[in-house]
Amino acid sequence: MVAVARYTRTAMVLHWLVAVLIVVNVLLGLFADDVPDSLVRRAIDTHKSIGITVLGLALLRLLWRLAHRPPPLPASYARPERGLAHGAHIALYALIFALPISGWIHDSAYKNAAATPLLLFGVIPWPRLGWIMAMPPAEKAALHSQWFAIHVWLGYALYALVALHVLGALKHQLFDRDKALARMLPGV
Ligand code: HEM
Repeated sequence: MVAVARYTRTAMVLHWLVAVLIVVNVLLGLFADDVPDSLVRRAIDTHKSIGITVLGLALLRLLWRLAHRPPPLPASYARPERGLAHGAHIALYALIFALPISGWIHDSAYKNAAATPLLLFGVIPWPRLGWIMAMPPAEKAALHSQWFAIHVWLGYALYALVALHVLGALKHQLFDRDKALARMLPGV
């Protein structure tokens, strides 16, 4: 049997933790306004809290990645596939930073931000971006809607890249049979 080169346990834990939190956060972002009125505020605040948590985990992931070489891709991967896989991985790294940062900028430009402090999971105070809060109201309102549009479009880019990433992994697992999933699945 051919041995499969695998990621470290830390890389696996960070990968799946970020993946699960992002799925939950996309659902909260898309459906927060559809929950009963009494829960809307809590759903949006939880979305913000999970988003900031993802930003922290993304930083840890990047530091871990810079300090550890990932296992080489299996020899069966064709050259264009290697390029596509690397490109998708770099773009996914960029998005796990860009999505929370764009949300944070959007939220900092909220007109009542000063009167409604951001508490992560209702407990940990988290700062808004002071230079945005200090802007004149009209500029802040424009920034608030521009950065929401950017947040939404980054979400669309995320859906497309996650689909490519998952389909690529499944193609290798099911059709090429090169055990792609075992590289990132703990215990397999
Ligand atoms: C993992 C990080 C994040 C992801 C994947 C994410 C994703 C999304 C998505 C998909 C939406 C719905 C967009 C649409 O209507 O198409 C959304 C809405 C929103 N996001 Fe994020 N977001 C993240 C982080 C953040 C952060 C850190 C903040 C603020 C601190 C934030 C603030 C918001 C707000 C205020 C909304 C509008 C919610 C509503 O009014 O219904 N997001 N987000």
